[in-house]
Amino acid sequence: MNLVDNKPGYTRSVEPPLFFIMMRFNLKVTLLFLFVIGILTILTLYSFCGSRVKEWGNVNSKSLDVLTTEEIDCEINGDYIIGCRKEGDDVYLPFSFLHRYFEVYGKLATYDGVERFEWSHSYSKVYRPKSKYDPKGVFMYFENYNVEVRDRVKCVSAIEGVPVSTQWESQGYYYPTQIAQFGLSHFSKNLTEPEPRRKMIDDSDRDLGKWIIPSTAKFERIFDNNFNSKILKFITSDSYEEGIRLKMDHVLYFVMSLDLILSGNSSVTITLQNRETKQIYFLHYITSDVWITSQDNNIYHGIGTKRTWKKLTRDLIVDLHKGISFFDKDKSKIKLSRSKMRLTEITLRGSGCIDNLTLSSSEHIQQFYDTAEWFVKHQDKQTGGWPIPVKRKLAPGFQDLQPGWYSSMSQGHAISVLSRAYYHSGGDIRYLTAALLGLKPFKVSSDLGGVRASFLDKYPWYEEYPTQPASFVLNGFIYSLLGLYDLMSIAPLEDGREAEVLFNDGMVSLRRMISLFDMGSVTSYDLRHFTINTAPNLARWDYHATHVNQLLLLSTMDGDSSSSSSSLFKVTAERWIGYMNGKRADHN
Ligand SMILES: *[C@@H]1O[C@H](CO)[C@@H](O)[C@H](O)[C@H]1NC(C)=O
Ligand SMILES: *[C@@H]1O[C@H](CO)[C@@H](O)[C@H](O)[C@H]1NC(C)=O
Ligand SMILES: *[C@@H]1O[C@H](CO)[C@@H](O)[C@H](O)[C@H]1NC(C)=O
Repeated sequence: MNLVDNKPGYTRSVEPPLFFIMMRFNLKVTLLFLFVIGILTILTLYSFCGSRVKEWGNVNSKSLDVLTTEEIDCEINGDYIIGCRKEGDDVYLPFSFLHRYFEVYGKLATYDGVERFEWSHSYSKVYRPKSKYDPKGVFMYFENYNVEVRDRVKCVSAIEGVPVSTQWESQGYYYPTQIAQFGLSHFSKNLTEPEPRRKMIDDSDRDLGKWIIPSTAKFERIFDNNFNSKILKFITSDSYEEGIRLKMDHVLYFVMSLDLILSGNSSVTITLQNRETKQIYFLHYITSDVWITSQDNNIYHGIGTKRTWKKLTRDLIVDLHKGISFFDKDKSKIKLSRSKMRLTEITLRGSGCIDNLTLSSSEHIQQFYDTAEWFVKHQDKQTGGWPIPVKRKLAPGFQDLQPGWYSSMSQGHAISVLSRAYYHSGGDIRYLTAALLGLKPFKVSSDLGGVRASFLDKYPWYEEYPTQPASFVLNGFIYSLLGLYDLMSIAPLEDGREAEVLFNDGMVSLRRMISLFDMGSVTSYDLRHFTINTAPNLARWDYHATHVNQLLLLSTMDGDSSSSSSSLFKVTAERWIGYMNGKRADHN
């Protein structure tokens, strides 16, 4: 799995405040002291009237003793000194030190006006499956993913409708794993989010949009036999000012979709305004193969140069955000919330036709199908793989993966997308064919361009990174198993056989090998400590949580052959959850 793309939507904002617990105590001491002085004053006054007072006074002076703290040096491993506090026989270390030393996390929080300190051993989150895993349903917990807003997504290509990654190559490239995650997240959101709300902006059959047409332009609503409906046809002069405009004041939904065909040098421009700062932005969809470029507040997305009808589905806020971060690298400055934006104008320039111009709150299923189409179109029909066009260096000791390598995780994720598309489309055979073809690299050894490695020449393993020597990355392997499971469950019986064999073989390996990843207080990401004899590559907490989430999910797939493994996976996952809460394996 790559560094950013596959982790659950955790926030790392638990960056612990660097402060001393003792400071809080100091404040308390001061307050208590003042309080005690107050009590004492009252008591002194009372002492003129009674004798019980003496006893109270004693109690209070006693607590004063207990709360005295003093500074003390603390020597760490005979190596260096830090400042600590001593109170009675106890010594207090600053949390900023504990955080660094033990990699634990903490923050101050206030509940009902009472402040407290919250300590946590890990920063990550476990998603317990709510029910048995359903290959036709939500993919893991991907409804929480928001792939397109990640920093390592350059933009969503308006040519293909899928994200462009900058993960290992800043120019950008299509990374099948990331694309599949985009598709799976939209498929999952379709099942979990509220129904989309839509507003039809222009539909020629109903003559909806009141366009402003300059005298130099041509504008007609013509009947098209292919669509058996009317479409809007336009031609404007070359001058930028002379576009056909539709003025609006729209503030609700920012996912635009339309059917369009444009000839060269034509464009559709959306004007957006920030309601607070009044700043205006122009989103231009142009006939070009450029993914994204921008100049000042003009942002350009190419929609390709083919003169054929296409359905364009764009999240305008994502496009705006990507455009701004494209020219303004200081991303922290960019705060664009949907609720602050207003759509003020749609402009058509050049010549072309449009239809079904709509604004919606979401178009998840359309974005999912854009993804499925991408996988159908970009599969190598010989090998069945979706090539990754950039070089990948996993670590010293492994040979580099040369551009064009395949990943079991990409293959598995793609198969998960295509299986769902096959099911959801009511059996569109193109999706099934591509998914079945996608099994091919699982049968080809990783030294021959496939993804199959073997542990001790015995246990097959589908490699996320098919390195020499093998790396045995755990999470990518399990994701690939999910893809195989999806296909064997959704494909018609005979078609699903091959996926089933690959899945069962993989599960045998996983059952046998899962304990090799258990490091007693954390897990390891891969088995490089075995294959290249280095220190183990310990999984940071979000990957560790991914391991746990995956095992919990596998443990819900009970069946005849795997009921024993479902309990193995459950027990292992629970032990690994313990690690996230500071538990460790016993020592001798
Ligand atoms: C999900 O997709 C179906 C079409 O399959 C659509 O009718 C429904 O409105 C969509 N719901 C959401 C939340 O996207
Ligand atoms: C517009 O939408 C209608 C209804 O979905 C569809 O029949 C028609 O083909 C669409 N127009 C174009 C140009 O795709
Ligand atoms: C687009 O515009 C450029 C520059 O104005 C021109 O050179 C080119 O021929 C035009 N292309 C088409 C297809 O109209």
